[in-house]
Amino acid sequence: MTSTPHTSAGAPAPGASTLGADTRTAALDAALATVRRNITLHGDLYPDDTTHANRYELRPAAPGFAAGANRGWTTSFWSGQQWLAWELTGDQDFRAAALRHADDFAERVRGEHDLDTHDLGFLYSLGSLTAARLASTAAARADARAAALDAADHLMRRFLEPAGVIQAWGDLSDPRQAGRTIIDSLMNMPLLSWAHAETGEERYADAVRRHTTQLREHILRADDSTFHTFYWDTVTGEPLRGATEQGAFDDSCWARGQAWGIYGFAINHRATGDPSLLDAAWRCAEYFLAHLPADGVPYWDLVYTDENPAPRDSSAGAIAACGFLELARVDPDPARAARAQAFAEQLVGDLIAGYTPARPEDADALLLHSVYDLPKNNGVDEGTLWGDYFYLEALTRLADPEWVTYW
Ligand code: GLY
Repeated sequence: MTSTPHTSAGAPAPGASTLGADTRTAALDAALATVRRNITLHGDLYPDDTTHANRYELRPAAPGFAAGANRGWTTSFWSGQQWLAWELTGDQDFRAAALRHADDFAERVRGEHDLDTHDLGFLYSLGSLTAARLASTAAARADARAAALDAADHLMRRFLEPAGVIQAWGDLSDPRQAGRTIIDSLMNMPLLSWAHAETGEERYADAVRRHTTQLREHILRADDSTFHTFYWDTVTGEPLRGATEQGAFDDSCWARGQAWGIYGFAINHRATGDPSLLDAAWRCAEYFLAHLPADGVPYWDLVYTDENPAPRDSSAGAIAACGFLELARVDPDPARAARAQAFAEQLVGDLIAGYTPARPEDADALLLHSVYDLPKNNGVDEGTLWGDYFYLEALTRLADPEWVTYW
């Protein structure tokens, strides 16, 4: 496919063609072939967070965990790809693989293995909530539902009073992490919104409302860029300061964080009905679009430009595309919804055109050229499990506008 031109503001040029069905179908077929091959390659174990020279190796062993064990924050993106593949094809092999992983997620939360993270939302929305809805037997659905509720309760233990935020990382007694939250946390809220809908307990919805309000007020800056992380005083609850962990500078705008903001504020608007969260999603979106390079796929931090280039983070592009597709669904203004749909199609077209393997067998990743953590030289210019997942989610949403979200 030929990528359509962008305006200087990163918006599709007037009259730019939208993504063709043939291109989408070919991209989906290639992605599904890679998911199938990776299942054969890794069996029931888990690939590492990122590829190494475009090949996924098993997640390395760590104290208390064998190689390929379910630990860290990214394993559910592998399950999520299998669930999407099952929904797209109806092929039982994909669902069987995803269900075996759902058993691992239940065991992880019951055994209290590696739970000191707000990413329980990412992990259990894809690892268990999918199975609670899509498993073939009532027993499997009930087991996955119970695991997801356990995970939601673990996540609630991280809710800090009086700040009204969920602490992102680490043991709650670790002073270095005390009172810190990060923009990615917006994507962890759907587990709590689901727990509220499932149990009727207001404490889950209250945590979502308060946490998202704090992020809208403090992590989103006046110029519509975002801090990666923000600290609150754990005693007084006062907002303290923004900082970065994976971005270029404390006051730069980490591309993936901005993409988490687009998608995260949009899904939390859907859950809460709060119009200020829809506004926050669009503020993140407009800033993101205004800072895209000519080929439409962001540098890893939006401080970089075509005059001052750096490695790309295609995963930020895939997350943003899903965010635009969510905006296209939830924005009540038809003109804005159509604009969001056009941006999403443009982004996905740009990813297909320049950021996917020429042939599926050329790489284990669905999506090439992402960055995990450049300041730590971790996963630079590689495939990532989340980039692959959100790229496949975007293709799924485009193929089926009625697709029932996992978030
Ligand atoms: N949620 C961590 C990251 O986006 O790298």
